[in-house]
Amino acid sequence: MRAIRYHGPRKPLQLEQIATPAPGPGDVLVRVSAAGVCHTELHFLSGLLDLGVAPLTLGHEIVGRVEAVGEGVPRERVGERVILYYYAGCGRCPHCLRGDENLCDALRAEHGFVTDGGFAEYVRVPARNAVPLPDAIGDAEAAPIGCGVTTAVHAANLAGVGLGDWVVVFGVGAVGYGLVQVARLRGARVIAVGRTPEKLERARALGAEATVRAGVEDVAARLRELTGGRGADVVFELVATRETMAASSRALAKRGRLVFVGYSEDTFEIHPIQLVVGEQVVTASVGNTLAELQAAVELVAAGRVKTVVDRVLPLERFQEGIDALAAGRLVGRAVLAP
Ligand SMILES: NC(=O)c1ccc[n+]([C@@H]2O[C@H](COP(=O)([O-])OP(=O)(O)OC[C@H]3O[C@@H](n4cnc5c(N)ncnc54)[C@H](OP(=O)(O)O)[C@@H]3O)[C@@H](O)[C@H]2O)c1
Ligand SMILES: [Zn+2]
Ligand SMILES: [Zn+2]
Repeated sequence: MRAIRYHGPRKPLQLEQIATPAPGPGDVLVRVSAAGVCHTELHFLSGLLDLGVAPLTLGHEIVGRVEAVGEGVPRERVGERVILYYYAGCGRCPHCLRGDENLCDALRAEHGFVTDGGFAEYVRVPARNAVPLPDAIGDAEAAPIGCGVTTAVHAANLAGVGLGDWVVVFGVGAVGYGLVQVARLRGARVIAVGRTPEKLERARALGAEATVRAGVEDVAARLRELTGGRGADVVFELVATRETMAASSRALAKRGRLVFVGYSEDTFEIHPIQLVVGEQVVTASVGNTLAELQAAVELVAAGRVKTVVDRVLPLERFQEGIDALAAGRLVGRAVLAP
């Protein structure tokens, strides 16, 4: 089968022919129809995120159809349309026992991270990781649910976004668009921050009541003003450069929560006195639980959350998707259709 292979930091991705995996006991083999390109792919390529596994097929926003099943999996699952949960936890560590597979101490697999993912014609996953996808959601439209929307659901859950909270979404890409909508559904008042007017316009269409232009306006001052002097109860950091982190932390309200979802080469610096005086919290969010993927699918199926797909590309044009993402030219996701 054809697959896009990652060979380690600072090496180009390659379209290669590799063996089609066979489903082992408890597995399903999925024929991939759509796979979103996440910003995390860029962190693999730069080496900022180096999990030490190569060669590897990247891609963790995966949609397809069950092509074959391994021993112990009901034959009826063949033909099912599915979206994949990318973590396969051990099921036994304290985190897995609480359903927090994203924190598992002994992962059996993490598709697109340390186990082959979706930038290929086929992917093999444990049957439990293949979640039924309602027909109402198209393939390309569904792909960004797998990380973009699920990450937003998890981060909003962790941050405890609540009724009337001022929520700032700093960086409006696929995860940011998920956060704008999920925060709104939780009753928050949302302000989106970004540099590209077209992306901010889309954030407004999805429920942000105000937007702030980074690089043009004084972001922290403007956020303070928009919130009537209170500041943000929650800031989701999707960019996390020195500049954005300074603005994010300056914009926090008393008891405000700064939630890191994105990261860059830059480190974060804050004087503890700021946190102490305002009882502020700095926290972070990674991945999602299987239950949160189910919730994300239901929200999109019900039309309560929309994914944003900029373009759909055949597998062999993957580099176009990567380049457009790196250049900031995408409004939402590029999705590969193997
Ligand atoms: N923790 C997790 O579980 C998790 C999951 C998924 C992704 N992530 C991480 O979260 C981050 C966002 O992911 P994504 O896929 O949504 O990325 P994305 O689609 O590239 O969106 C990020 C957006 O941030 C904006 N941006 C860049 N620099 C900015 C600046 N200085 N000020 C304001 N906005 C700026 C860009 O738009 P402009 O044109 O406006 O600059 C870009 O569209 C990445 O670091 C990714 O690795 C983490
Ligand atoms: Zn992702
Ligand atoms: Zn575990």
